[in-house]
Amino acid sequence: MSQPVPIPHGLPMERDAGPFAPPRQITRLREARPVSPMVFPDGHEGWLVTGYDAVRQLMADTRFSSRQDIGILHMPYETPGMPAPTEPSPQIPGMFIAMDPPDHTRLRRKLTGAFTVKRMKQLEEHIIDIAERQLDELARLTPPVDLVKEFALPVPSLVICELLGAPYADRETFQVNSAKFLEKDVSLDEKMAAYGALNTYLSELVTRKRAAPGEDILSDLARHDDLTIEELTGIAFLLLFAGHETTANMLALGTFALLEHPEQLAELRANPDLMPGAVEELMRYLSIADIFYRYATEDIELGGEIIGKGSTVVVSLLAANHDPQRFDNPDTLDIHRKARGHLSFGHGIHQCLGQQLARIEMRAGFDGLLRRFPTLKLAIPAGEVKLRTDMNIYGVHELPVTWTETAR
Ligand code: HEM
Repeated sequence: MSQPVPIPHGLPMERDAGPFAPPRQITRLREARPVSPMVFPDGHEGWLVTGYDAVRQLMADTRFSSRQDIGILHMPYETPGMPAPTEPSPQIPGMFIAMDPPDHTRLRRKLTGAFTVKRMKQLEEHIIDIAERQLDELARLTPPVDLVKEFALPVPSLVICELLGAPYADRETFQVNSAKFLEKDVSLDEKMAAYGALNTYLSELVTRKRAAPGEDILSDLARHDDLTIEELTGIAFLLLFAGHETTANMLALGTFALLEHPEQLAELRANPDLMPGAVEELMRYLSIADIFYRYATEDIELGGEIIGKGSTVVVSLLAANHDPQRFDNPDTLDIHRKARGHLSFGHGIHQCLGQQLARIEMRAGFDGLLRRFPTLKLAIPAGEVKLRTDMNIYGVHELPVTWTETAR
């Protein structure tokens, strides 16, 4: 039953319950009213969904649209330099994460073959090689070093380049521009310039793939005559971004979380068979991709509330994954827990296409890092680690680490 609780104004972001737990206000709200009205900074009244069952139900219901071109998606927090939208945003060709069926189905279907568990298994050795090579480079450095810059970012970046078939010589441009999106001290103008440069780069790349396809995902897509160059570019963009910042933040924040739980870390080092379960639990516990939006295309009942047609609905996957009705002691990291069923890869038709790839990257990354750096530790006090509370994808801006010995 709903109890009277204050309606939040804007989305609470401050991690006042520690770096890994949801903001206290979010936890209180989930306990009192898991589907709650929320007032957005522009004055619009929308909804915030925090309960596990309600989030799952919402993500499985396509009446909650992912499109941004059929109504205004109100922003739950202000982004410096970004004006609040006053009209729907145009649809970007190929960007199927922001589409509904049948457009979403048409595009996603073309990629499912490339991301099956089987295809990803075949890539596993190669991904392990990429991670190990990056660890060789790391071992050559004199600590302390920033683990984000030297390990967590390069690994997924190299993997996705490889999958997309971006030539080796282009990788630097590719990485420099994509890194601009991730840096916080980069102006909006610079970000737009980096976007333009990447778009041009990707559009030229897919044009070349269409003319002379090779052995990679973009070439396979380019063989489909019914996909335009704009669509191919949009898909390349989506794969690059969806698969890059997310995995990088999991590797960095996951390492931080493990270093803060030394007993579990030691157990994991001693028994690497625990790794798949630990990765699943880290995904749940950290829920780095927390906030997603949907647009109600009609009046919809959810968790005893009526969500009015035209409302923006914000879901918190972090809150859902820390719901005690679904996971016991949810704010505790427990690598032995059965964490499958978490919502960190989403749910329903938009459920993460790259989840098998992400799992393989995380297993290879954590496994190699723990094995080869047996004395790895933070180089600064934990309280000084800069958290990405200001970012859409949570994580750490930097993770200064040090070590006294390395191993093969
Ligand atoms: C969708 C999380 C890694 C590609 C999603 C969604 C989530 C998510 C929550 C659902 C979005 C929604 O419902 O609106 C993550 C996390 C990752 C990760 C936490 C890393 C730990 C990857 C990787 C790739 C990828 C490595 C591959 C290149 C995609 C794509 C979609 C998606 C293409 C859109 C799917 C669709 O709309 O049908 N991801 N992701 N992701 N992800 Fe991931």
